[in-house]
Amino acid sequence: MGRITRATDFEIRPLTDGDRRAAHELLNRAFHTKRSTDEEWEKLAPGFPAERKFGAFGDGALIGVASSFGTELAVPGGKAVPAAAVEAVGVRADRTRRGVVTALMAEQLRDCADRGEAAAYLRASEATIYGRFGYGVSARRKSLRVHKSRARFRPDAPAGGQVRLVEPGAAAELLPGLYQRIGLYRHGMIARPEQWWAWSAARVAEEYHVAVHSGPDGDDGFVVYKPEERGGSEPGEGLDVIDLQAANIETLAGLWRYLLSVDLVAEIWASRPLDDPLGLMLTDPRACEVVDLADNTWLRVTDAPAALAARAYGDAEPVVLELVDPLLENNSGRYRISPGGAERVGSPADLKLGPEELGMLYLGDRAPSLLAALNRIEVLNPIAVEAADRLFTTAVAPHCGTRF
Ligand SMILES: CC(C)(COP(=O)(O)OP(=O)(O)OC[C@H]1O[C@@H](n2cnc3c(N)ncnc32)[C@H](O)[C@@H]1OP(=O)(O)O)[C@@H](O)C(=O)NCCC(=O)NCCS
Repeated sequence: MGRITRATDFEIRPLTDGDRRAAHELLNRAFHTKRSTDEEWEKLAPGFPAERKFGAFGDGALIGVASSFGTELAVPGGKAVPAAAVEAVGVRADRTRRGVVTALMAEQLRDCADRGEAAAYLRASEATIYGRFGYGVSARRKSLRVHKSRARFRPDAPAGGQVRLVEPGAAAELLPGLYQRIGLYRHGMIARPEQWWAWSAARVAEEYHVAVHSGPDGDDGFVVYKPEERGGSEPGEGLDVIDLQAANIETLAGLWRYLLSVDLVAEIWASRPLDDPLGLMLTDPRACEVVDLADNTWLRVTDAPAALAARAYGDAEPVVLELVDPLLENNSGRYRISPGGAERVGSPADLKLGPEELGMLYLGDRAPSLLAALNRIEVLNPIAVEAADRLFTTAVAPHCGTRF
């Protein structure tokens, strides 16, 4: 039994097995999705353990839930840190705006820190919810609408390898191992534990298709997609890309060549990293239209010394950051960041920031100079700003690529 946080008219405690169905239905309601039948719940239950779920209880009933699963988060430089993937957060509609999620978040963040996790990581339903808890937008994504009739590959575009369709049953067996084999090839990606696969398998719709790419070393990428009517600008079906994994450009080209060869398709939609190069492979780059650009993941550092020490930094003069973290006091302190790593120091700070801004810098998505210009980072030593840019920003854009 974990700690119990008491608020005025509700209490927070870890969920037990007996609370799971109620928690699931609370989330269905909060996200405006239909109730699950007993049969549907039976399929979903293995991917919905009580472990790592906190509930808020008022008048004896469940009024709020916050969940997470343990994962590994890839950070710049190729290492991965233990992290919490936060998901399934919701409050009963008649009990919102009275601090329920605030209490759940405080409990959950303490729990992550106690577990030795370096960061908590999530995808937000709304951009106004998580900043106050120290989460910052750590990776962004662009939504592509690819117009098939105009999408022709340039003669110099990578050819890609072989692509084969895999039946859903076989795909459920194949994909967990393949995802692991491909590895966390981009910072911002997370490992997918069994629980994630169980949850996603239970929700995989009949109409999903799975295509696997093979290169010189065997299977090295895959795409999961489903046909969808979206009232696009051209006649024909659309394909919605649910999950696309390709560790290199050859594989990416091979998978897109396949998707663009599927008959009776007018458009393909996909959510991709900001630096996705599909448009550059086409004779008409506008055939790959960017229809939306938004936050992909939010990150909250829960163990600053471990998180800062794990990532690689660019080449620049060292900079001392002062982190002020009112929620997780152990994080507060000064850290010297250099090309060789990061360590806690007693020397004077060059830049001062809070956890939200650290979350925006940590995976390299935003430059410190931008946040300084916006008064979101306090500059104590102006010379340090440019060095901080070179230390923190990354050539490759961070991206998660996993729905959770
Ligand atoms: C988002 C949600 C979990 C917030 O829960 P809550 O218990 O109402 O949040 P709190 O009362 O602790 O809110 C804390 C603060 O955040 C603000 N806030 C919370 N949710 C907000 C939202 N969606 N938009 C704007 N502000 C929000 C509150 O106004 C409050 O501000 P204050 O302290 O200045 O008064 C709840 O509205 C919900 O269940 N929404 C539907 C499901 C959902 O979107 N879940 C999140 C999935 S990522």
